Amino acid sequence: MDDTFHSDTQMVSDVQQNTDSFGAVVPPIYQNSLFTFDSWQAIEHAFEDKVNNPIYTRGTNPTVRMAEQKLAQLAHGETAKLFASGMAAVSAAMLHFLSAGDHLITLKNTYGPSISLINDFLIAKFNIEVSYVDGTDVEDFKKHIRPNTKLIYLESPSSVVFKLQDLAAIAKLAKKHQIATAMDNTWATPLFQKPLSLGIDLEIHSCSKYLGGHSDIIAGVLIGSEQLLNAIHFREYELLGAKMAPMEAWFLLRSLRTLSLRMEKHQQNALKVANFLHQHDGIEKVNYPGLVSFPQYKLANKQMTGYSGLMSFQLKTCTLTQVKLFVNSLQLFQIGVSWGGHESLVYAPAISGLKEQSAEQFEQMGISTSDIRISVGLENVEDLIADLDNALQAI
Ligand SMILES: Cc1ncc(COP(=O)(O)O)c(C=O)c1O
Repeated sequence: MDDTFHSDTQMVSDVQQNTDSFGAVVPPIYQNSLFTFDSWQAIEHAFEDKVNNPIYTRGTNPTVRMAEQKLAQLAHGETAKLFASGMAAVSAAMLHFLSAGDHLITLKNTYGPSISLINDFLIAKFNIEVSYVDGTDVEDFKKHIRPNTKLIYLESPSSVVFKLQDLAAIAKLAKKHQIATAMDNTWATPLFQKPLSLGIDLEIHSCSKYLGGHSDIIAGVLIGSEQLLNAIHFREYELLGAKMAPMEAWFLLRSLRTLSLRMEKHQQNALKVANFLHQHDGIEKVNYPGLVSFPQYKLANKQMTGYSGLMSFQLKTCTLTQVKLFVNSLQLFQIGVSWGGHESLVYAPAISGLKEQSAEQFEQMGISTSDIRISVGLENVEDLIADLDNALQAI
């Protein structure tokens, strides 16, 4: 689709892809493990561009490729590679940039399993060195750079506490020191934040959240330059084999058609919910980058064009018993992990966090047992606010 069209037009239209499919308004699913050729020469020719020519679905599949091209266009990247999950994409990114003995700088508050991947896998098996930083100040990164620093891994806003990093400034610093930058952009989606345009080398998403949007697929994507993504294709993608399934790609294409509509509504609902919580007597603190009172609101406004529906807050009366009572009193907000789907969800990091981390690690990440996270869905916002209000009254 022509780059001059707006992104909502690009996401809705499948016109170009339909030339071989009877004008079908929805492209078909190529549910194939392999593709055949009519001659030795034809398959030999296909091997000259394995990234774009479907030969075997562990490498390239036409339905998956369609979704990759849409995501690349949306993120203003040259190309994209879809994976079986967000964690498969995160793992491929880290394994691509880091070798034994290298140094990584990342955040104290990046997504928990990404930290576990670093601690339990990269450090334990490959002797990778790691510096964990707060990340709200570029100096945090500058002072930790070592001669063997190969990757700065970001997530803005970060998990649970939603702290931002100044992406353009960090990308500039990294380029000066020839350090690669990768960033988990799941929260904002490529619609509301374009890290590649700010100089970040590799953009990462869990497509299991807003990009999928209906809580029915697990998927991940890497977006960046052709040179970088082709290198990842031949090593971490094809060899580790955590590929995206054609059916999942088809669901993702369906979801992308409504991405801008959904994100607009998530944003509208979330801003109203965040303001309600912020003004409520029973609430101590709301962490939501879209609130004018958010400490990094200026930076949020500078590097994002919108805000999604995930936020966290703390009750004034913060005993664990009361947090449990609050969560159990909600009716519309269902209790569950994950976020970014049509449905509103509530989760408290204390539910699983303290089982997976020590209390000190938990505190070091800036997370407390009184934190409550909500994913604001697409329901009527008055009903959502009434549900929160009832639960606040119950405590
Ligand atoms: C910020 C972030 N990044 C990555 C992931 C991992 O994605 P997936 O569950 O698709 O593997 C998640 C999942 O919750 C997430 O919240």
